[in-house]
Amino acid sequence: MEKILLLNGPNLDMLGIREPEVYGRDTLESIEAEVVAYGAERGVEVDCFQSNHEGVLIDKIHEAHWHYDGIIYNPGAHTHYSYALRDAVASIDAPVVEVHLSDINAREPFRAVSVIEPVCVAQIKGKGKQGYKDALDILVSRD
Ligand code: DQA
Repeated sequence: MEKILLLNGPNLDMLGIREPEVYGRDTLESIEAEVVAYGAERGVEVDCFQSNHEGVLIDKIHEAHWHYDGIIYNPGAHTHYSYALRDAVASIDAPVVEVHLSDINAREPFRAVSVIEPVCVAQIKGKGKQGYKDALDILVSRD
């Protein structure tokens, strides 16, 4: 595992401002910096990307097939309904670990369903920003 993509979907650019009682006070920028540093300690290069747009995320996942060994992916609300993103994940060889800051099973019923999970190698939820680092460990341990 040499290169990992840290991918975040809609509204995750608002971390730090958005519902801090649910998602914490860390900004996405600071979480990304922590994951990049965590990866560097393990000899892994981590690139970060966030978008609020489904098609842009699909293009990035396709690109990952050629350029990355794995993806750490928080699909945000796309988790619960985007078959297009599920198909994108299923289209590529790179393993994908799904991450949620909150415990999606302990919230509104619509959040308990992930259409992305069946095509991922693992799902991590409810561990806050630590979940992104745990996902990196899962990807690295697959080597
Ligand atoms: C989330 C959970 C989703 O239900 C929500 O739509 C998000 C964030 C999480 O990280 O806990 O945007 O993926």
